[in-house]
Amino acid sequence: MSIAGPSQLPMAKDFSSFLSLEGASRKKSPLKGLLRFMKGDMVSLGGGLPHPSNFPFYSLSSDIASMKPVGQNVKNVAVVNEKAASVSSENVFVPHGPQPGKVENLSSALQMHRPKYQDWDVVLSAGNTDGFAKAVSMLCNRGDQILVEEWTYPAALEMMDPLGIRHVPVGMDGEGMSAVALKDLLDNWGSIPEQANEAKPRVVYLIPTGQNPTGATMSVQRRKDIIKVAKEHDLILIEDDPYYYLQFFIGEDKSADNETQSGWMPTLLSLDTDGRVIRLDTFSKTLAPGCRVGYMSMNARFCTIVQSHNEVTIQQPSGFSQGLLAEMLVSNWGQEGYKRYLTEKVRTEYFNRSQHLQACFRKHVNPRFASFIEPTAGMFVWIKIHVDQHPRYGTMPDSALMLELFNKCVENNVLMVPGWQFSCKPKPSNLDLSDLLGCWFDDEATYLRATFSYATFEQMDQAMTRFGESLEAVFSA
Ligand SMILES: Cc1ncc(COP(=O)(O)O)c(C=O)c1O
Repeated sequence: MSIAGPSQLPMAKDFSSFLSLEGASRKKSPLKGLLRFMKGDMVSLGGGLPHPSNFPFYSLSSDIASMKPVGQNVKNVAVVNEKAASVSSENVFVPHGPQPGKVENLSSALQMHRPKYQDWDVVLSAGNTDGFAKAVSMLCNRGDQILVEEWTYPAALEMMDPLGIRHVPVGMDGEGMSAVALKDLLDNWGSIPEQANEAKPRVVYLIPTGQNPTGATMSVQRRKDIIKVAKEHDLILIEDDPYYYLQFFIGEDKSADNETQSGWMPTLLSLDTDGRVIRLDTFSKTLAPGCRVGYMSMNARFCTIVQSHNEVTIQQPSGFSQGLLAEMLVSNWGQEGYKRYLTEKVRTEYFNRSQHLQACFRKHVNPRFASFIEPTAGMFVWIKIHVDQHPRYGTMPDSALMLELFNKCVENNVLMVPGWQFSCKPKPSNLDLSDLLGCWFDDEATYLRATFSYATFEQMDQAMTRFGESLEAVFSA
């Protein structure tokens, strides 16, 4: 499907020179080409699919939160979890057999961030993990380098490592990747011995909202600055944004110029006039990770390549998930209902959770030993441990002090993710990194990542009490 924008917008630039060997050689599956003949009176003996009458599933249905405006009649249905008891619900019903128009309409229901060029398109993925892997295979050959935030999502690095695709860290601040650091790095590329024989990286991977692990969110200005550097240095940006809709303060960035007309931060995609942003969206954080449905928005040429890749890998995300989502988002909620769900439910829930964890931290943790920057989106608090307050600071590596603290936390029954897991530094081969109680690498990884998305409010209080006690025990030893 192609969703052309207003014709006064420019066409995407030609980014063919960015394609990897794999990306450039992807062809459409000839078998799928038969589908276009399937109309009118055509009798097909071609496809290898079983007939729907043989499926043992007669229909699919689910009780979902109702997004009908207050006062409208809502059907009462049996509740499936304790939370649902306090909210009104409605039923999604997916009948047996094909649903012409429904799944196709899912794609247009997903058009929430419009880029500023004409020929952009959307292709479904099995979530952002899948989308990222496809983007990388389209753009990178073995030996290429990708620019990444200096603390980043480990699965992204782990996906690239075995493919021989290397990563180059870019400095961050409280707003995520620094546009100044990115520009400096590229302006001066080749000036240090390690870069001497290396081609300048052309692809950037970044998580602009509620960054994993730091919780940082880019301001509108930062987003514009990143786009500016990308134009100047001719970069492709992979915008991995699973936490986009978990923004707590919608419309409060005074520098926003209403790009999305809804008060959400403008996405990098919506600021893109060239077709250089590959945006990854997923339902994993807003609906349920088990959906395994996401979507990639980007220039139409890239979409075609990813579509061909899908045809020989996942084919498409689960039809069960697509059927339910299409019914829910197209027939039941509509785009308005989905937006209300995101603002009234998702945002409020995560905002309250985030505030609660922070309050517990302030109540139970001595600020001399640890601190954090307040997150404005996402699921994470990135806790900085003040190792310089440790009585043995300077007499042993910071890693050893962090390992001591991590062990004490585990002993006291509070678990957070060790900061080193998000480090971009090369992992030492002589350490067994699966031995979490026995190793800590990267002396700069003096952080723990706490998540407020899962534990109950009571558990968060308990966790911060235990964390505070662990810090006291280790720092007064
Ligand atoms: C930055 C980032 N990208 C991708 C994912 C995974 O997304 P998905 O479940 O859509 O594959 C996560 C979280 O689990 C994440 O933090």
